[in-house]
Amino acid sequence: MRLGVAGLGTVAQGLFVLLSENADRVARQLGQPISVARVASRTPRSHIDTLGAEFSTELNSLLQDDVDIVVELIGGTDDANRLISRAIELGKPVVTANKAVLSQFGNSYISRARESHVPLGFEASVAGGIPIVAVLKDGLAGNSIDSITGILNGTCNFVLTQMDAHDSTFESALRQAQDLGFAESDPSFDIDGIDAAQKLSILGSIAFDQPIDLANIYIEGITNIQLDDLHYARELGYRIKHIAVARVFDSSVEMRVHPALVSDKDLMSRIDGVDNAISVAANGVGSLLLKGPGAGSRPTASAVLSDIIEIAKGKSSLPTNTTSTRRASPICDLTSSYYLYVPVSDEPGVMATLAEVLGNHRISMESVIQKSDAIQQTGNVRWVPVVLLTDEVRESVLDETIRDLQELSAVHGDIRRVRVVNLN
Ligand code: HSE
Repeated sequence: MRLGVAGLGTVAQGLFVLLSENADRVARQLGQPISVARVASRTPRSHIDTLGAEFSTELNSLLQDDVDIVVELIGGTDDANRLISRAIELGKPVVTANKAVLSQFGNSYISRARESHVPLGFEASVAGGIPIVAVLKDGLAGNSIDSITGILNGTCNFVLTQMDAHDSTFESALRQAQDLGFAESDPSFDIDGIDAAQKLSILGSIAFDQPIDLANIYIEGITNIQLDDLHYARELGYRIKHIAVARVFDSSVEMRVHPALVSDKDLMSRIDGVDNAISVAANGVGSLLLKGPGAGSRPTASAVLSDIIEIAKGKSSLPTNTTSTRRASPICDLTSSYYLYVPVSDEPGVMATLAEVLGNHRISMESVIQKSDAIQQTGNVRWVPVVLLTDEVRESVLDETIRDLQELSAVHGDIRRVRVVNLN
């Protein structure tokens, strides 16, 4: 089995290392060795051991007859799309780790691959080393899936964990994630939630038989989360995580990625660092939780290699047809509890005013924190954060409530809101 590998980055290097370290075991499973016939990359990097492959700067070189499987590890969309499309056209099996290209063109790849019986593997596109694509597509094939809830971006999880555990600034935690090779080349894809949304669009499609469509997903990143929020959340019995949720109701599907308070009693709250975790609720199995490294060279290469082996065994399967016609439920229809951080002047009667506004919108409070040692002075204004945890309320009502609160003369500065995700 001869591979043509596009790219010489972190994941490709991990693949060469695993192919070499695990060569005997892989060959025993397949009854034949896997070799790397060709490598193509825009930039030659002669220090990387490509296991004897022929090198070219031309991606098209991977479409020659001596390549049995095209392994796309270049990232980005334009070149990757051209390579994958052409390979499928030529009937060459493709393995890709590229969620960006899949979230844009995945529907057409899957339907073309199905029509022409071309294997297409994309395990590595979601959650690094966690084999969640195989779990949803094959392991849970006999279930109807109700929901997927997870931490799908290692960089966001790493940044929030560093801030929470070490009081690091957002910037220094992000720099560390970049230095460790977890972040995307443009880290705004991570911290603005795009990467997690691309992954959720792929999982949602496999789980709910719907087309991959990023436009169906509400996307919010972690840049508004402050150290204070992490501390207050802890006091309330929660951690803040960047969470992806996909749930189906009879006729609609709810898909969203955003920071969220997760109860510290839930295992998901203890998934730290670059790890990802995915909880699946399904009607046969009940609920299960998978946890593991969501990024990094060897974990992602492990997922790439699993696809290669499935294809080499002739066992690779595609997701079922995208037949669902469920409508996407907008975020304003969400019902959730909320954490609110309200900076108010330190004066008698302010708490009553806040309670009145919440009461006017029929929102009950579950907890309130206001600490005298948190009083701050900005210019000649003495202010203090009031932190509230609300009962469940519709998001559109909360939006109106925040607008009303923000207009109060006692409120100094922006109110922050974080949704609560309840995993039970
Ligand atoms: N940048 C991604 C993350 C890794 O931080 O999870 C690959 O998907």
